[in-house]
Amino acid sequence: MNNVEVISHPLIQHKLGLIRDKNTGVKEFRELVEEIATLMAYEVTRDLPLGEKKIETPIGPTTVKMVPGKKVAIVAILRAGLGMVEGMSKLIPIAKIGHIGLYRDPKTLHPVEYYCKLPGDINEREVILVDPMLATGGSAIMAVDLLKKEGAKNIKFVCLIAAPEGIEAFHEKHPEIKIYAAAIDERLNSHGYIVPGLGDAGDRLFGTK
Ligand code: PRP
Ligand code: URA
Repeated sequence: MNNVEVISHPLIQHKLGLIRDKNTGVKEFRELVEEIATLMAYEVTRDLPLGEKKIETPIGPTTVKMVPGKKVAIVAILRAGLGMVEGMSKLIPIAKIGHIGLYRDPKTLHPVEYYCKLPGDINEREVILVDPMLATGGSAIMAVDLLKKEGAKNIKFVCLIAAPEGIEAFHEKHPEIKIYAAAIDERLNSHGYIVPGLGDAGDRLFGTK
C-alpha cells in the first residue's frame, strides 16, 4: 500500500498482541498503549531535520547534531489519542501538544467535532497526529481537515491498528500524508469496528462502556 508504513518491530508486535486480548485490563492496556507509542515515535521521527551546535566536551570543543527546538507538535484525537501522547512526548519532550475532540456518531459512523485547541504556531511545526484506531477513516480525515485549515503543512498520522477501508478513504482525501500503523487488520464489521481489532479503544483506555 502506498504511503503506509507498518512498523513491525517485535516489541511493538508483542505489546499489540497483549492489548488485543479482551482479558487485558484497563491499567495494563493504558501502560501498553503508552509503551507502543514510545516505540513508534522512534520510527516516526526517523526523518526529523537535524541542526548543528557547538559545545565543549570535558576534553575539548566539538560540533554535535541536535533536533532544532520549535519543530514538532503531537496532536491527539480525543479521547483515545490521549493514550498515545505521554508515550510519544517521552521521546520528543520539546513537542507542543494539541487536542482535537471528535466522536463517531454510532448510527451514521460520521465524526462529530466538539473541541479543537492547537499550538498557535502549528503551521511551523511537523505535526504527528495520533489515534489508536483508523476504522472508516472519518475521524482522521476530519482531524487533518482541521489541521490544514489552521495552516499545518507537514503532517504524519500514527495509529496502532488500521482497517484497509480506512486507509483507502484517508488517502483518497489526503494522499500526501503518510500513515504509520502497528498493524493493518482484515476489515470493518457492520458496526464499523475493526476485525479483529481490539474493541473500543476509548472504552478500554478509560474503563468506560
Ligand atoms: C474511535 C477512535 C477513532 C475513531 C475511529 O473514537 O479512537 O477516533 O473511533 O473510527 P473512524 O476511523 O471510523 O472515524 P470514538 O469515536 O469511539 O471516540 P472516543 O475516542 O471518544 O471513544
Ligand atoms: N473505534 C474503535 O475504538 N475501535 C474500532 O474498532 C473502530 C473504531
